[in-house]
Amino acid sequence: MEKLVVKGGGRLNGEVEISGAKNAAVAIIPACLLTKGVCRLENLPDIKDVKLFLTILENLHAKVCYIEKGVVEIDCTEVDCSEPPADLTRKMRGSSYLMGALLGRFRRCAVTSPGGCDFGTRPIDLHIKAFEALGAEVDCSYDIIKINAENITGSNIYFDVVSVGATVNAILAAVLADGMTVIENAAKEPHIVDLSNFLNAMGANIRGAGTDTIKVKGVPELHGGTYAIIPDQIEAGTFMIAAVATKGDVTLKNIIPRHLEPISAKMLEMGARIEECDDSLRIWVPEGTKLKSINFTALPYPGYPTDMQPQLVTLLTTTDGTSTAREGVWDDRFRYVSELRRMGANIRVEGKLAIVNGVPNLMGTTVKAVDLRAGAAMIIAGLMADGTTEITGIHHIDRGYENFESKFVKLGADIHRLQVIEDTGV
Ligand code: EPU
Repeated sequence: MEKLVVKGGGRLNGEVEISGAKNAAVAIIPACLLTKGVCRLENLPDIKDVKLFLTILENLHAKVCYIEKGVVEIDCTEVDCSEPPADLTRKMRGSSYLMGALLGRFRRCAVTSPGGCDFGTRPIDLHIKAFEALGAEVDCSYDIIKINAENITGSNIYFDVVSVGATVNAILAAVLADGMTVIENAAKEPHIVDLSNFLNAMGANIRGAGTDTIKVKGVPELHGGTYAIIPDQIEAGTFMIAAVATKGDVTLKNIIPRHLEPISAKMLEMGARIEECDDSLRIWVPEGTKLKSINFTALPYPGYPTDMQPQLVTLLTTTDGTSTAREGVWDDRFRYVSELRRMGANIRVEGKLAIVNGVPNLMGTTVKAVDLRAGAAMIIAGLMADGTTEITGIHHIDRGYENFESKFVKLGADIHRLQVIEDTGV
């Protein structure tokens, strides 16, 4: 087991290179199953979820070739299995995308219920609704979801809740269908657009990604090609908040400023300054600025991202006055609040609303990363706090952030990783 040790009080200064987007990568890797050509993926983040997904593909008999840092070639020509191993799929949420991809390729699959961060219930009813609309029969009476279709036929799919995962799965299943599929009330996240751009580059016919109506005209087959994954909106946003939390001055490189607008808007409202260039952004807090308390709601894109909710709540713990944070996506995404309270934060949670009363400072102690983004929030809290913060449960952080602590160290943070010898009780 490992833990992170963070000494607070310093300012972050300098430049940080943002990696490829985790949530785009975990949609694009399974999409390679739909092609028989070689797909060369660039700007892939070196994170546990990506490695795990590549291992799952190898288990299905894909050839995965690591070319250089961030570049992998995937050849799914020989894939002959539509039942990925349960011990691997259970470890990540993105494995649910194997359903759409394998259904699209083989017209059948059997996939174990996916794992991932725990934010209360994480249903897949909308995914199933999409597969059924396309003509598949779905049996999920046990832990294994079995999907079969004689044919996949284009259809109209209306989602009554905006779902990233269901939108990805509907696109994956429809790409090689007969006829046109129209997905209404689709998710508009940057990674939905990235997946569609990837598939179109491989010969698919998808229009409207990034709006709430996506049209997928089925094509007989896809080919291989080269594709670079977009920069990670959430990693970039995490560094923006860390910069503001330490009253620092940080320039993010390799980003798409438009994807960061919902986050930038909140940072500006609090009193930070931002300068945007084509693919970089500088964020800083002018000398003497008192950060303001604010109210926000986490919503699907282009709203403020739920995956940036714990980081912003953490930042608000030491601003003067009262802030509110409403979680508009997940039922239970405030489980990390008890960890912040242990550091002295004054936060009350009422269902999906957190009321944050600013305190003068946080105090370092031992806290747990209860999930991936909560883990990032604990690092920010540690950087803000007086004294030393020890963070356990950091396997969550490694799932989704590439070289996270070394990027912080490059910005001047005092943070390091320690092996913990477990007490076996013997
Ligand atoms: N929902 C349903 N039925 C479904 C699917 C979803 O009711 O069949 C509900 C969920 O319960 C939730 C809402 O719809 O209330 C949105 O869920 P969504 O399906 O959009 O989430 P997801 O696809 O499981 C992805 C990201 C999450 C991110 C959410 C929301 C990946 C691999 N995961 O999850 O990312 O929080 O979208 O933006 O893309 C993270 O990166 O830390 C992370 C958790």
